[in-house]
Amino acid sequence: MINLLRGMKDLTFEESERFEYIVNTAATIARRYGYGYIETPILEETALFKRSVGESSDIVGKEMYQFTDKGENDVCMRPEGTAGIVRAFISAKLDRQPVKQKFYYYGPMFRYEKPQKGRLREFHQFGCESFGEDSVYEDFTIITMIAQIFDALGIGYELQINSLGCKVCMPKYRETLVSSLTEIKEELCEDCNRRIGTNPIRVLDCKNDKCQALLVESPKLKDYLCEACDPEFRKLKALLDQEGIKYTVNDNLVRGLDYYSKTAFEFVSSEIGAQSAIAGGGRYDRLVEFLDGKPTPAVGFALGIERIMELVKMPEKEAEGYYMGAMTQEAIPALLKLATKKRLTDKVTVEYSSKGFKSHMKGVDKANAKYVVLIGEDELNNGTVWLKDLESKEERVIDINDL
Ligand code: HAM
Repeated sequence: MINLLRGMKDLTFEESERFEYIVNTAATIARRYGYGYIETPILEETALFKRSVGESSDIVGKEMYQFTDKGENDVCMRPEGTAGIVRAFISAKLDRQPVKQKFYYYGPMFRYEKPQKGRLREFHQFGCESFGEDSVYEDFTIITMIAQIFDALGIGYELQINSLGCKVCMPKYRETLVSSLTEIKEELCEDCNRRIGTNPIRVLDCKNDKCQALLVESPKLKDYLCEACDPEFRKLKALLDQEGIKYTVNDNLVRGLDYYSKTAFEFVSSEIGAQSAIAGGGRYDRLVEFLDGKPTPAVGFALGIERIMELVKMPEKEAEGYYMGAMTQEAIPALLKLATKKRLTDKVTVEYSSKGFKSHMKGVDKANAKYVVLIGEDELNNGTVWLKDLESKEERVIDINDL
C-alpha cells in the first residue's frame, strides 16, 4: 500500500464540510468588503520567494519544497500566497493603474516543517490582499474583517498587534538593537546568534525561554517609531478601541516573513495547543517595488484553515430536498426522470434499488431530506407519486407532473 506523505492530510467526509464552510463564510465576508477572487499557480520560480519572503527567513532557509523541473528551472511549491499574488499584480500591470485592487484567495501552501499538531507540510490558507491603499484605516478595516470572520465562525481569539516601523525608523532601531544584542551575544542561543548578522529583528520572537528572559531589557521598536509611524499606530489602536475589538500590543511580534513594515498582527487561539496562530498579516508597502513593480502600498492577511477547522462550530444541518425511491424495478426510469427535473432547483437523493415501503423509510434519515417521494406499481400506472412532508407528516398522492 502506498501511504500518505508525512505532514500531508486527506480532506474527507465531515472534514471537507468544515473546510467548505470556513472558505464560504470567509469569502462571503471578504466580498462584502470589496474583495474579488484570484487564483495564482502553486508552482512559482524559487527567486520569487527568496526576494519576497526573504533569504534569512526560516521559510526560505529551511522549509521550501524546491526542485529543478525538466526544463532546468529552479521552482518551488508556494509556501504562502502573498508573493504569487504580488507577482500576478505586477504581471497584469495593475501597478500602473490608479484603481485600488482587492483580492481574496484560498488554497494549499507547502512548508517542509517538522510535522506536529497544527503544523502540516501541506496546509491551506484563506487570504486577502489589498493594493493601493496606504491609509491605516485599511489596516483597521482588514482587522475588522478578520474579527467578523471569526465571529461568524463562532471562534474566540486573542488579537496581537505591533508596528514594525518604516524605512525611516526601522534602520535606526535595527542598529540600536544589534548593539544591544551584541552585548548579550554569548548568552543567546545559536539561532539568535546567526540572526544578529542576518535578520536581527527575528531574534525578538525566539521561542527559547532563556533568550526571551534576556530580551526583556532590549530596546523596543515602539520607542523608535518615527513621526509618521507613531501617530498611525496610535490611530489604529484608537479605532480598535472604538470598535470594541480587544487587542494586546506585542513588542516581539515581528512575523516570520521579511516583507512587512508598519502594522503587523496575529490572531491567536488558546484552544489548539502550541501552534496557536490562526491568522496573521500586516502591511507590506515595499514588496511590489522589491519585485520590480511600481511602488504600491499594500496590506493583507492569511488564516490557517486546518487550525480553524479544529475550532469552528458547525451550524446544525437543516433537512432539505427530497429522498426518492421506487418500490418496483419498472418504476426506476420514471423516478430518474423526476429526479433530474427536480435537481434543477433542489437537492435529491435517489435510492437505485427498489425496495419495500419500510426499507425506504429507514434510508430517509441518512438523506436528511424534507420530503419523501415513492413510486410503486399503482403510482407508475396512474402517473402519480406518493409524497410525504417529513416536517408536517402530511402524506399525499399527487400527479407526477405537479411535483
Ligand atoms: P503566516 O503567518 O506565515 O502568514 O501564515 C498564516 C497562517 O497560516 C498562520 O497564522 C497559520 O494559521 C497558518 N499556517 C502557517 N504555517 C502552517 C503550517 N505549517 N501548518 C498549518 N497551518 C499553518 C502568511 O503566510 C502571509 N502570507 C500572510 C499575509 C498575507 N500577509 C500579508 N498578506
